[in-house]
Amino acid sequence: MRSSDFKTILITGASSGIGLELARVCAEKGHDLVLIGRHAGRLKDAATELAAHGVKVHTIRKDLSEPEAADAVLKELTRKKISVDALVNNAGFGDHGAFEKSDWEKVSMMIMTNVHALTHLTRLVLPSMRAHGRGIIVNIGSTAGLQPGPYMAVYYATKAFVNHFSEALDYELRGSGIRVTCILPGATSSGFQEAASLNGSLIDRLAKLATSRQVAEFTYAKMMAGRRFAIHGVFNRILAFSLRLTPRFLVTFMAAKINGEGS
Ligand SMILES: NC(=O)c1ccc[n+]([C@@H]2O[C@H](COP(=O)([O-])OP(=O)(O)OC[C@H]3O[C@@H](n4cnc5c(N)ncnc54)[C@H](OP(=O)(O)O)[C@@H]3O)[C@@H](O)[C@H]2O)c1
Repeated sequence: MRSSDFKTILITGASSGIGLELARVCAEKGHDLVLIGRHAGRLKDAATELAAHGVKVHTIRKDLSEPEAADAVLKELTRKKISVDALVNNAGFGDHGAFEKSDWEKVSMMIMTNVHALTHLTRLVLPSMRAHGRGIIVNIGSTAGLQPGPYMAVYYATKAFVNHFSEALDYELRGSGIRVTCILPGATSSGFQEAASLNGSLIDRLAKLATSRQVAEFTYAKMMAGRRFAIHGVFNRILAFSLRLTPRFLVTFMAAKINGEGS
């Protein structure tokens, strides 16, 4: 795939962490950008910084947990006459703690953002990509989606959805010129830890976190190489392989311990 064929890239959750770093990488490579997030100020700062690379940067402030968010984004793209060549579904967040005691509003917003908005946006950009005979859809999944995750149960399950949906859709779109790339970061330093109430938890203390920049560079390389599924980091790849060989109850037990059970 030639990166020059994919001039305009839309990135959700581009106001911090992996999304912001990916926007930086894309701007450095000469792509025009559409940045989506909830915080107008952060988006504006990012747009000002990235425009210095001589690329066009549009921002759309939108809370993707709203049921009609994807429709509103498409409407805005149409109004601005922007055709998206690559969609990066990156926006997402987690929640740490026992499901029974969880804040339902936060859980519901997580499912809407991580699953509903990602799926709906993908559905809405496909007709135009199909008409052009090419396109890239990048979904940011997670190594968390490779197993059940007690004490982050819903987050792990949303990422299992993302991982499986992406692979299945890539299969359905074979021969269309549209590729779906699912990226699985492991623990990465970003705003994620605070948003998921993970600061100071066992995983936060034990894991050697990748930087958002490392994951962003990896994501750009894999999406432009047309890869279907890519796990970031050698340690995470070994871990992912070992999960296949380990009994499910043990995998679940280990995830519970990593997520802080008993600590
Ligand atoms: N960090 C990790 O350890 C890790 C590991 C594996 C996968 N991931 C995945 O990587 C992706 C990026 O996360 P990150 O680590 O970069 O965390 P982050 O720094 O907290 O960034 C999350 C981004 O998502 C946006 N966002 C969250 N809720 C939103 C909503 N309702 N509507 C619109 N935008 C929303 C945030 O923007 P606003 O706050 O401005 O809305 C922010 O730009 C997520 O899908 C996450 O699940 C992270």
